[in-house]
Amino acid sequence: MNLPKPRTDGNVSVERTIKDRRTVRSFTSRPLTLEQFSQILWSGQGITQDDGFKRAAPSAGALYPMDLYAVVGHDAVAGTGPGIYHYESTTHALNIVAEGDHRDELAQASLSQLWVAKAPVSVVICAEYPRITAKYGLRGERYAMMESGHIGQNIFLQAGALGLNAGIVGAFIDVEVKKALKIPQSHEPLLIIPVGYR
Ligand SMILES: Cc1cc2nc3c(=O)[nH]c(=O)nc-3n(C[C@H](O)[C@H](O)[C@H](O)COP(=O)(O)O)c2cc1C
Repeated sequence: MNLPKPRTDGNVSVERTIKDRRTVRSFTSRPLTLEQFSQILWSGQGITQDDGFKRAAPSAGALYPMDLYAVVGHDAVAGTGPGIYHYESTTHALNIVAEGDHRDELAQASLSQLWVAKAPVSVVICAEYPRITAKYGLRGERYAMMESGHIGQNIFLQAGALGLNAGIVGAFIDVEVKKALKIPQSHEPLLIIPVGYR
């Protein structure tokens, strides 16, 4: 599924989004527009070079070992069914991984932080370590973890600029998140960013 073309300007200053950024753990069921959803994913891992491959967040050695998955609930994003989606940076598109609303499973895997299931969308930031350890050895794992922080902050600030709120979850059981997401075993979840209206 192709996503709407991302915007590269807006009405809110970066200073304002930094000042207002707070972890939110309570969301209403108000859905996101497809444009907002598109923008959130672009801010995390979208391609930002006109004729190139570089992405919205920095990456050690420009190796981009990260993948984003979106866990979308029922009536959570206008024009999008519930499911688990993989974000394709190069085409700014989504591929369905599994249909259905898997937010409860994600919340259970997040040490039963049940508020996670209320967010219309959660972005799960994953790393595939061999894509970076091949060059940097074990230190590559550290780089991937740092990269997930950059991606998470981009999503946080983009959410703020769109009038949305975001949370952040690092407390989860890795194998249970992988099971809930039905993702390849080599994709290691590092951070979960629930997004929606407060
Ligand atoms: C790596 C990391 C993991 C976190 N994990 C969780 C979490 O699992 N659950 C949660 O409610 N908050 C989590 N937080 C959010 C922190 O509790 C929050 O950032 C902190 O209280 C400061 O508040 P603020 O983000 O609103 O400024 C996490 C934050 C970071 C940076």
